[in-house]
Amino acid sequence: MTAKPRLNICVTCTFSAADGQSDPRDGKVLFERVKTACAERDVPFDLHPAECLTNCKSGCSVAFSGAAKWGYVYGNVDPDTMIEDLCDLAIRYSESDNGIVAWRERPDSLRRNVIARIPPLD
Ligand code: FES
Repeated sequence: MTAKPRLNICVTCTFSAADGQSDPRDGKVLFERVKTACAERDVPFDLHPAECLTNCKSGCSVAFSGAAKWGYVYGNVDPDTMIEDLCDLAIRYSESDNGIVAWRERPDSLRRNVIARIPPLD
């Protein structure tokens, strides 16, 4: 059985570099809020905490990965306003054949937040 796609959330991110490090970290807040939102829905992906995705200057960062799927790194994910949109995008990513979610099918708030994409292994 193939593992579910993953939504990896950096739990050590700070949303705004200008505001300095938060306590708890904004990334941790994002992770906990997404975890709560996922618990209320039957989501087709696993949620994983990560410590630094090497995208530290672009707000809260997340990465999507999955077998035979393109990987995506997103930045500037606002833990106050983007929880549902992030869950929706993760569902669309998980349900796609190859990880590619068409631009027009991405939630508005996240359309311009792609930092990088990584080719699948196979
Ligand atoms: S601390 Fe989150 S990407 Fe580096």
